[in-house]
Amino acid sequence: MATIMDSMTVKPLSDALGVEVSGVNAADLGEATFKELREIFHENLVVVVKDQDLSPAEQTEFAQRFGEIQYHISPEYLMDGQPEVMILSNEKEDGKFIGLPDGGSEWHSDHSYVDQPTGYTMLHAIKVPKDGGDTEWTNMVKAYETLSDEMKERLEGVIGIHSFNRLKNQRLTVPVRHMNDPDYYKRSPPDAFHPIARTHPHTGKKALYISPRFTIGIKDMDDTEAQPLLDKLFAHIKNRDFIYRHRWTEGDLLMWDNRTTLHLALLGVPEGQARRMHRTTVLGEIPF
Ligand SMILES: [Fe+2]
Repeated sequence: MATIMDSMTVKPLSDALGVEVSGVNAADLGEATFKELREIFHENLVVVVKDQDLSPAEQTEFAQRFGEIQYHISPEYLMDGQPEVMILSNEKEDGKFIGLPDGGSEWHSDHSYVDQPTGYTMLHAIKVPKDGGDTEWTNMVKAYETLSDEMKERLEGVIGIHSFNRLKNQRLTVPVRHMNDPDYYKRSPPDAFHPIARTHPHTGKKALYISPRFTIGIKDMDDTEAQPLLDKLFAHIKNRDFIYRHRWTEGDLLMWDNRTTLHLALLGVPEGQARRMHRTTVLGEIPF
């Protein structure tokens, strides 16, 4: 355990990635402490700041210190009066979900299906169920670094195709709640094209930038070659040595770097137990 600045305490979350930070108030961070935190974040990929009690406005202000807010393409679950915050929840009011109930149930990096994807995502745990609702992250820097030299060479300059549209993804099925909603897929933006080996703008490290949820193929490569290659890489990123599983505690403000991690919502919350998270996303750069 190391004490940085005056009161910020930092300890590792796992061998795979991540640190836990305590002793700070994210709504009131001095500039020097903020810069230190951002540095730690880039190096460790996931940071959970413990015991936070942020209003949606305070969470938005914290997120804006990292860059410009990115709004979700689906306006359905943005918070009234604070659209920078999206609600993730299994709670219902008048028979309708008040937030996105089942997001993230395949490995993905947020918004990788647009030209300028999310840099950072912050989730603030407001209500945590007794059972289920864990989230996993996989370290895509380690995933890249542990590839063979031949594979790294093979991926040099290779471009992945990312799509929001589940109908284009042979690895996925359509969720029941969207089956009778063709408009849901019409909202899909055009496919995006990103390097499979992506460079982090601050650390200079390379990471794999593909996901089973959004990467549907490889540019200028026939599917007979591209799909087996993707299958091989998707199997590789699920190595448990790269993965951290988070059991949430109320007050957690957890942020991850979407350039260097994928995440997975494990769901499994029993009926009658409430889960509510407030999510903010910060725009990243065009991947290179
Ligand atoms: Fe996500």
